[in-house]
Amino acid sequence: MGPLTGRIRVPGDKSISHRSIMLGALAVGRTRVTGLLEGEDVLSTAAAMRAMGATIERHDSGEWTVDGVGVGSLLQPQQALDMGNSGTSTRLLMGLVSSHPITATFTGDASLSKRPMSRVIDPLSQIGAEFTAAPGGRLPLTLRGAFPAVPIEYCLPVASAQVKSAILLAGLNTPGVTTVIEPVPTRDHSERMLRGFGADLSVEVDSAGTRTIRIVGEADLKPQVIEVPGDPSSAAFFVVAALIVPGSDLVIENVGLNPTRAALFDMLRAMGGSIEELNPRDVGGEPVADLRVRASALTGINVDPAVVPSMVDEFPVLFVAAALAKGRTVTTGLEELRVKESDRISAMRAALELAGARVTETEDGLIIDGTGGDPLPGTATAAQVVTHLDHRIAMSMAVAGLASRAGVEVDDTRPIATSFPVFESLLATATGSA
Ligand code: S3P
Repeated sequence: MGPLTGRIRVPGDKSISHRSIMLGALAVGRTRVTGLLEGEDVLSTAAAMRAMGATIERHDSGEWTVDGVGVGSLLQPQQALDMGNSGTSTRLLMGLVSSHPITATFTGDASLSKRPMSRVIDPLSQIGAEFTAAPGGRLPLTLRGAFPAVPIEYCLPVASAQVKSAILLAGLNTPGVTTVIEPVPTRDHSERMLRGFGADLSVEVDSAGTRTIRIVGEADLKPQVIEVPGDPSSAAFFVVAALIVPGSDLVIENVGLNPTRAALFDMLRAMGGSIEELNPRDVGGEPVADLRVRASALTGINVDPAVVPSMVDEFPVLFVAAALAKGRTVTTGLEELRVKESDRISAMRAALELAGARVTETEDGLIIDGTGGDPLPGTATAAQVVTHLDHRIAMSMAVAGLASRAGVEVDDTRPIATSFPVFESLLATATGSA
């Protein structure tokens, strides 16, 4: 494969796509969405909202419409809600259901069934919802919503936008004011979009940076026209690929650059990466730009743990950049990576070792000594990388393969369709091998 050149567009933002379907389903009237990510995770959310009464359609133009039922009017689903691989669908929908007078069972694939749900069960129990879950607070679980729910004030014990959003969505149908206190800021798409749909939501930030978010319940949401920007977490794979493949000069159009999501690009610039923001603008209430990325000599860095929430999904591909950089990269504070679609610290340690990188695993991160730009050598006993049903491991290691002498083989590319169904064809286009 050659260098990455030309202009590409990555699909819509996954977080924003989920939320546009959920809030559209709770508004009264028709929400129109363009640029929706048509990945399996978002389709799981759409199927669940249909099962609870919304009418959701894809039109030939590519536009999606969501005819909502109104806050408080979700219907009892007749079957278990299959969440597939999607933690965002599960946790946010648990929030929605928990303040409606309905009972729902949530199921998921082998990866999702290992992930902790107590982090949402705890606050949602406080509002009055009842749960029967598999041991350790895991799927499959059945949730009986509270009606009326009790408004709570909840301080997040983990930096998680999913937990924050679950509580705010529960607050939509809870009488009174629901308050979430967030000591470490996480992605704020829920807050932006709830306001856009007309919810009464306020955010107060104190001198230590702690955010107090209040939402007034029994809300009336008004349908919206939403344009979903390109997903920075998907663009990340192409940004790193263009940086590490010599001769690359690639423009990725329409990338969402919400500051609660964009820290990877700052880290890569700090490593010496040439990433220019062209044509900055606002799309659907989110900052967006085109990114021009040129192949660059990278140098290892110490990643400040304070930036972890704003690039939490991008560490697997940052590790790949680090493996090609000159010198050492040290990451810490990554405990949350162990409870994503896979344990991403140990999965990436094992995968990069197979590709011949020098990696040390610590309790909360990886230490990587890079090649200084030389291709990864591979190992004599090169085996297939194990992706553990994790789309981001598969895509990160595909990128590593572009800068590897022996190439990289992954055991299972199917999970890529959860978030980035056109990844392989777009990579072929950008490398001129389509
Ligand atoms: C997401 C929040 C993050 C992220 C996930 C999407 C969201 O999870 O990893 O891919 O849309 O709110 P956590 O809240 O568990 O960190």
